[in-house]
Amino acid sequence: MVSKIIIVVFHILLCLEFRLTKGQSWIKAGYWFSGSEFPVSNINSALFTHLICAFAPVNSTSYQLSPSASDEKHFSNFTNTVKQKNPSVTTLLSIGGGNERYSTFSSMVSSSSYRKSFIDSSIKLARLYGFQGLDLCWVSANTSTDMSNMGVLFQEWKGAIDLESRNSSRTPLILTAAVQYSPNLDSASFPIDSIQQYLNWVHLMAYDFYMPTWSNFTGAQAALYDPSSTTNADYGIGTWINGGLSADKIVLSLPFYGYAWTLVNPANNSIGAPATGPAITEEGDMSFKEIKDYISRYGAKVMYNATYVVNYCSIGTSWIGFDDVEVVKIKVSYAKERNLLGYFVWQVPYDDNWLLSQAAAGQEDNKNGQNNRRVLVIILTTTAAVILLLGILIYYCCIRFKMLKSSKGKLFLL
Ligand SMILES: *[C@@H]1O[C@H](CO)[C@@H](O)[C@H](O)[C@H]1NC(C)=O
Ligand SMILES: *[C@@H]1O[C@H](CO)[C@@H](O)[C@H](O)[C@H]1NC(C)=O
Ligand SMILES: *[C@@H]1O[C@H](CO)[C@@H](O)[C@H](O)[C@H]1NC(C)=O
Ligand SMILES: *[C@@H]1O[C@H](CO)[C@@H](O)[C@H](O)[C@H]1NC(C)=O
Ligand SMILES: *[C@@H]1O[C@H](CO)[C@@H](O)[C@H](O)[C@H]1NC(C)=O
Ligand SMILES: *[C@@H]1O[C@H](CO)[C@@H](O)[C@H](O)[C@H]1NC(C)=O
Ligand SMILES: *[C@@H]1O[C@H](CO)[C@@H](O)[C@H](O)[C@H]1NC(C)=O
Repeated sequence: MVSKIIIVVFHILLCLEFRLTKGQSWIKAGYWFSGSEFPVSNINSALFTHLICAFAPVNSTSYQLSPSASDEKHFSNFTNTVKQKNPSVTTLLSIGGGNERYSTFSSMVSSSSYRKSFIDSSIKLARLYGFQGLDLCWVSANTSTDMSNMGVLFQEWKGAIDLESRNSSRTPLILTAAVQYSPNLDSASFPIDSIQQYLNWVHLMAYDFYMPTWSNFTGAQAALYDPSSTTNADYGIGTWINGGLSADKIVLSLPFYGYAWTLVNPANNSIGAPATGPAITEEGDMSFKEIKDYISRYGAKVMYNATYVVNYCSIGTSWIGFDDVEVVKIKVSYAKERNLLGYFVWQVPYDDNWLLSQAAAGQEDNKNGQNNRRVLVIILTTTAAVILLLGILIYYCCIRFKMLKSSKGKLFLL
């Protein structure tokens, strides 16, 4: 009876431990974009669990990945280089990106032989250069046909990855995609079921909500919340989850850049103030490093708005909205509270002396809590195992003792 109870308790504890230790742990990912010309060897890999090399282009007739000669030089050495500072960092190769032609991808996903050509070449290239995963960044998918074909692509891609893994006895490549902040676009919806089933996770891009090139009002370009509209990260994440994607497949964006607007009236410098277009740079986009330099040059005061979760400042007629250290910390805490899988940075070279990367990586409170819980569970299960063994030992001793006694009795009777 006692041993039965011990066995039951032991099982419960074992299941608990399994639940806590299974699955992918907290992801701190960062994109490196070859166009940034930031030396890969300068990346502080210790601040990341995953580094994503972007972007491999796709040939518009063969549908194979076709990096240029200069990209090839970067890609082939990326994994070796970033692992020097952090041997346990995982690397992914990202395919596509904002400059990729819409027609190439739309056509590639539409035909089984084009998809096969794309898939086979992606796996081959990843293995050739030592990447541990592949990331699809097709930001222009915009029809329901694109979306359902994308779902088929993910299914076939995952199948090919598993087959290659079995064939080569190597760990399967990780498969991810960059997706819009909400699964529902004006004209189409992302293939959530296929994403849930075949991808390891998605990089949820909750930024570029407002840009000075098309919005004549200052705006929180990467708002976490917005009480007066659905254009915000929190709403988008809720929509993905309601649509069937589990929270632990979502990796939330941290934009390491912002936008500068030209104000109509320097005195009207709140969020939503009238503006006439970009300021400071041609399209108003500025890396965090450029923004920090600008702020310290002009001694601007940085404001924080908790309604949207955004920082901003204004200098004369220039108004800059961006994510500073406090926003990064709040977004990382948010991701943990909602049980998301982690965060990703666009892009690593935009940081200023690792300020934001460190702020993001340092938000460990919850994770430490989880680790403590894990340690506690391991101690409990070990204790239970010892008690169980003792129980079994005592139980068998008793039986043997009884048997001995009864056999002795029989002996005496004989
Ligand atoms: C794309 O592939 C085709 C067929 O393999 C080849 O002829 C062409 O040169 C490639 N284009 C580029 C830009 O690499
Ligand atoms: C590859 O990276 C290593 C380590 O950073 C460096 O020493 C080497 O010169 C690189 N090779 C090429 C071809 O860039
Ligand atoms: C989808 O995007 C492409 C390229 O941006 C564009 O040419 C096409 O008209 C768009 N289609 C729809 C339905 O919006
Ligand atoms: C796996 O191995 C089989 C038999 O060697 C081969 O026919 C097949 O092409 C391989 N598939 C992949 C995806 O490598
Ligand atoms: C700022 O601009 C908005 C929108 O045009 C306007 O409603 C508001 O009254 C202005 N505020 C100030 C202080 O000028
Ligand atoms: C924004 O304001 C500028 C200057 O007033 C004007 O030329 C432009 O047409 C406006 N753009 C939009 C999208 O309203
Ligand atoms: C954030 O900005 C909006 C727009 O100016 C304003 O209505 C709101 O009160 C601000 N929120 C906080 C907490 O200051």
